[in-house]
Amino acid sequence: MKAESVRFEQVTKQFGSVIAVNRLTLHIQPGEFMVLVGPSGCGKTTALRMLAGLEDPTEGEIYIGDRLVNDVSPRDRDIAMVFQNYALYPHMRVYDNIAFGLRLRELKGALWQLTHWGEARAIKKRIDERVRQVAQMLEIEGLLHRLPKELSGGQRQRVALARAIVRQPKVFLMDEPLSNLDAKLRDQTRAELKKLQERLGVTTIYVTHDQKEAMTLGTRIAVMKDGVLQQVGTPDEVYFQPANTFVATFIGAPPMNLLNAQVVEHDGKPALQVGSAILPLLESQAQKLQGRAGQSVLMGIRPQDIYTDRTAPPDAILSAPLPAVADVVEPHGDRNDVHLVVDGTTLIAQLSARVKIKEGDAVPVRLHLEYLHLFDPATGEAV
Ligand SMILES: Nc1ncnc2c1ncn2[C@@H]1O[C@H](COP(=O)(O)OP(=O)(O)O)[C@@H](O)[C@H]1O
Ligand SMILES: [Mg+2]
Repeated sequence: MKAESVRFEQVTKQFGSVIAVNRLTLHIQPGEFMVLVGPSGCGKTTALRMLAGLEDPTEGEIYIGDRLVNDVSPRDRDIAMVFQNYALYPHMRVYDNIAFGLRLRELKGALWQLTHWGEARAIKKRIDERVRQVAQMLEIEGLLHRLPKELSGGQRQRVALARAIVRQPKVFLMDEPLSNLDAKLRDQTRAELKKLQERLGVTTIYVTHDQKEAMTLGTRIAVMKDGVLQQVGTPDEVYFQPANTFVATFIGAPPMNLLNAQVVEHDGKPALQVGSAILPLLESQAQKLQGRAGQSVLMGIRPQDIYTDRTAPPDAILSAPLPAVADVVEPHGDRNDVHLVVDGTTLIAQLSARVKIKEGDAVPVRLHLEYLHLFDPATGEAV
């Protein structure tokens, strides 16, 4: 089956005075696994519902392949959706839950043929083969005779997926489909879903508020906030090159630290001053700050990129030391999350637990300069 592209072109959805989605332009490649991620209320579900045809855009165009679908009814869009609250038909066995949509479609396409018993039998056989094939794929063959109430949450979720897959849609839409599962089952189902999507090659748009889920599933990730798309990129791009402070602190846990610094001239080049410490920069960073001497800038550094003299790997390009005092030490087995006060701001550093640090210790830290981010404090945009 040929995978389809999906395009949002300047799509806006307004509910009264609330702008749920604000001029969303997003191009999804055929076969891609695109994850929409952002905090609750940022417009993810509304974007999916517009693509499914369950909401009309206030403005803008939505395309599936080359076809403008704004005026196409939901059932003619060839889309399958899996929601958080996947409603299975409670009185139907798993088999019939999966077969239901197929039967409707086959019957609609071939109503006249039903007078011919031979045709009806052929259709029944075709549906049966398809249901069993998909059940096998999702490892629920043994459950086909059960009722939904006789299934665990994870099993029900698989049935919901099977029901979507069996229809061979052009596009899958998934809205937080794993959020009702407990942590272990969620991790497992997530890994299986990724494999399954790769195997089926169907264009998939997946919504979650969980950045970890977004990072592990997406071919690309679209980060949204307040209805506005902030950045689209591969997991690697949004993690290592966040476009602004929102993306920088939303993706990654614990979040990236932000610290105010002054741009100063040092040895004829821009450098950063934090408190009384001067941090010379890499050439590329100094260049970006050319002409900004006297201004302030936000430094971004991830907890994993902060070291003490004793934890620093030999190949890291480290900053000059910054004076810091340990405030809170949270043990996580192999590492500690150490809350450090630097120039009045608290940073979280993930430090090897082999280096013993106590609350109240003075711990000069060095930042991995290659992974130091710079943001404009006024706009939050990356410098
Ligand atoms: N049917 C609706 N009527 C009014 N406001 C809505 C409706 N659906 C969503 N909203 C509002 O639109 C915004 C985006 O909601 P939603 O798309 O559900 O966000 P998300 O899925 O990211 O949590 C929220 O402010 C929400 O309250
Ligand atoms: Mg939602």
